[in-house]
Amino acid sequence: MAELRRTEAKNFIQDRPGGYFTPKGIDRQAERHDRGSLAETVKLLGDSVPSPLPRLVTGSPAMTPRFHSTGPETSLYVGDCREILANLPEKGAVDLVFADPPFNWDVPYTGWKDGMPRAEFERFTFDWLDLAIECLAPHGSLWVNVADDLVAEVVMHLKRRKLALMNWCVWHFRFGHNRDSSFILSKSHALWFARDPENTHWNADAVLEPTDRSTLYGDSRTQTKLNGSQGMRVPFDVWYGPFWGRVHSKNSERRPLHQNQLPEVHLERVILSTSRPGDLVLDPFAGSGTTSTVARAWDRRSISCEISDVFAASAWERITEIGMIHQGRSRLSFDQAKKAIQLFKLGQVDEG
Ligand SMILES: C[S@@+](CC[C@H](N)C(=O)[O-])C[C@H]1O[C@@H](n2cnc3c(N)ncnc32)[C@H](O)[C@@H]1O
Repeated sequence: MAELRRTEAKNFIQDRPGGYFTPKGIDRQAERHDRGSLAETVKLLGDSVPSPLPRLVTGSPAMTPRFHSTGPETSLYVGDCREILANLPEKGAVDLVFADPPFNWDVPYTGWKDGMPRAEFERFTFDWLDLAIECLAPHGSLWVNVADDLVAEVVMHLKRRKLALMNWCVWHFRFGHNRDSSFILSKSHALWFARDPENTHWNADAVLEPTDRSTLYGDSRTQTKLNGSQGMRVPFDVWYGPFWGRVHSKNSERRPLHQNQLPEVHLERVILSTSRPGDLVLDPFAGSGTTSTVARAWDRRSISCEISDVFAASAWERITEIGMIHQGRSRLSFDQAKKAIQLFKLGQVDEG
């Protein structure tokens, strides 16, 4: 810690060898809120609805993925993820779950009615979350992409299941539907929870990006970091900038059948930061197959579930025949970072 000034050393702890520091206050706060809380006593609306799981997942039907490929092992199951997760042979062995569930916003999915009464929707959410937790290895991480109207319930439910909130990231986008009844929606939440916060697959080095200090200000302090990370830092917990916009019709990543396709950069950041090569990644709601596509490009094994036959077939074509289009895009070069920061300072975000 020799390179830290005395005042900095007083307020910061070194949380990994080589140069990353966390303010002590944040750490203590996280401990109070995440580990020692009384969250399990909290009652939520969805608790009032009987779970359909006993009816849905009785017996252990032979589990065979509809699609499977090797190099790395990749499987896609077709059906209701609750039934599939409950019977998955890999239960307890999944390193990373990433879930981007339906938001209950009346999206016309094929094979899924996206408009349940609120209590039933919460019940559905708690059920698949519980099943996903059962799939995790002891060091496993669970990411959930969720909108404002359900995020509080998801956080409380995961806390009452004693998972630790590692990061509450926000994806900021600029394509929310125009409205004048309140501010325009321009974010979704990317929640990272861990089973054991002391023992997760966290890889800061895989996601480093150039700092404002190095790109804009030429600040020499940024060059004093150890371990080859000079001028770099982990990304902020608000995600935006070049390539983080809508996957619009002119974007070569776009898969025409699918609603709500996430950009590859989103999954790349999640997968690189919280899994290792060879790890097993699980996505209960495949959609266009973004998770498995990115997992495969970065040498992770993966399992996805999709309720619609049509979407599943399209996702599999993408996963195995098209592949990742923009590998490495989530890690901005020095020049891209500089341009992005300059635009941000001008109040603009380049959607790429
Ligand atoms: C928000 S989309 C996922 C988008 C995906 N992240 C992407 O980048 O393409 C949700 C998907 O979950 C599927 N789905 C809805 N309910 C499901 C269920 N119970 N089990 C499995 N899949 C389901 C829908 O058909 C839809 O394709």
